[in-house]
Amino acid sequence: MNILLTGGAGFIGSHTAVVLLESGHDVVVLDNFSNSKPSVLDRIEAIAGRSCPCENADLLDEAAVRDVFDRHGFDAVVHFAGLKAVGESVEKPLSYYANNLIGTIRLTEAMAEHGVKDLIFSSSATVYRADNPVPYHEDDALGATNPYGRTKVMIEQILRDVCAADPQWSVALLRYFNPIGAHPSGRIGEDPNGIPNNLLPYVSKVAAGELPVIHIFGDDYGTPDGTGVRDYIHVMDLAEGHLLALEYIRERKGAFPFNLGTGKGYSVKEVIAAFERACGRPLPVEIDARRAGDLPIVYANADLARAELGFSAKRDLTEMCADAWRWQQRAWSGQ
Ligand code: NAD
Ligand code: UD1
Repeated sequence: MNILLTGGAGFIGSHTAVVLLESGHDVVVLDNFSNSKPSVLDRIEAIAGRSCPCENADLLDEAAVRDVFDRHGFDAVVHFAGLKAVGESVEKPLSYYANNLIGTIRLTEAMAEHGVKDLIFSSSATVYRADNPVPYHEDDALGATNPYGRTKVMIEQILRDVCAADPQWSVALLRYFNPIGAHPSGRIGEDPNGIPNNLLPYVSKVAAGELPVIHIFGDDYGTPDGTGVRDYIHVMDLAEGHLLALEYIRERKGAFPFNLGTGKGYSVKEVIAAFERACGRPLPVEIDARRAGDLPIVYANADLARAELGFSAKRDLTEMCADAWRWQQRAWSGQ
């Protein structure tokens, strides 16, 4: 297949590009580099040993998106492009609604015009309403608590409506839990701008000496060690899930939500301990207040993806931290 990856230069997109290229598919990346760098394309090509053409375009630019579709015959699209920082979405809601919603609508219009109706959308565990019992199941009630999360809930609904209106569409709504880690080569990984908001990139930067201390947001939750529990999944497992989802939607029509997680939770302290083993030294920590809006425990019921896609995460927390640390060391030394 010839597959368009919107946002393919980003964290999850770059790893998925490698997996798709290595499995024999052709890939075209479309990215505006608002949260990534063009140099990642060379590294994707070096790992996969194949070319990965890139279109420097913004999804909000209708003419540019149409032009990309005019010049390539795509069979399917994986739609990663979007803004994703929860805190920023609260400060700049219109940027998030414009970029994520209008970007998706422009993309979907161009797909329909060109008869491309197989789509994988990057959704999130954040679409589940906070009062659902854990683990979250695909049938649980939806409802997000911030503008970023609401864009995901709204886009899922838009895509379900598109499928209802035209039975030729096939859409996978992949609800990612907490993707971490990096490609085992250490050549691609997560590269957030500024001070990271998420746990793993923060811990990596403390281990690299770029930040002084890890702030643990609360140790008084009702969890075994008092710190928050999340379903961390290796980004390479997540990338492989996209390949399975593409095969799945080729055979069916409709909209299909799937959790992509491991089904297992780890606490903040367990993650820090695993990272300490990876980098070979103790890391400084400080217990802070809980972060507003955080839940005590979030993890996936991973049964549906296992049964329908044949998906199960293979890499454990040790491997996630070892790969993240390898990437951090290379990124840090400017390689
Ligand atoms: P990322 O920021 O690394 O990648 C997103 C890419 O999209 C970037 O390269 C950015 O430059 C590009 N982009 C953004 N707006 C664009 C536009 N209008 N036109 C063209 N390109 C645009 O993020 P990621 O972590 O790789 O996440 C990918 C997707 O997965 C996002 O939709 C995100 O919301 C979703 N997701 C991520 C996580 C996570 O923890 N990383 C969890 C759940 C869901
Ligand atoms: C974040 C996003 C969420 C997204 C999810 C998946 C926020 C507020 N939420 O959730 O929308 O779907 O990622 O990637 O960004 N922690 C610390 N210290 C830190 C950072 C985090 O103790 O410096 C704790 C948090 O309290 C939490 C855990 O580590 O218990 C994981 O936090 P984080 O990596 O930000 O992910 P989520 O909160 O799950």
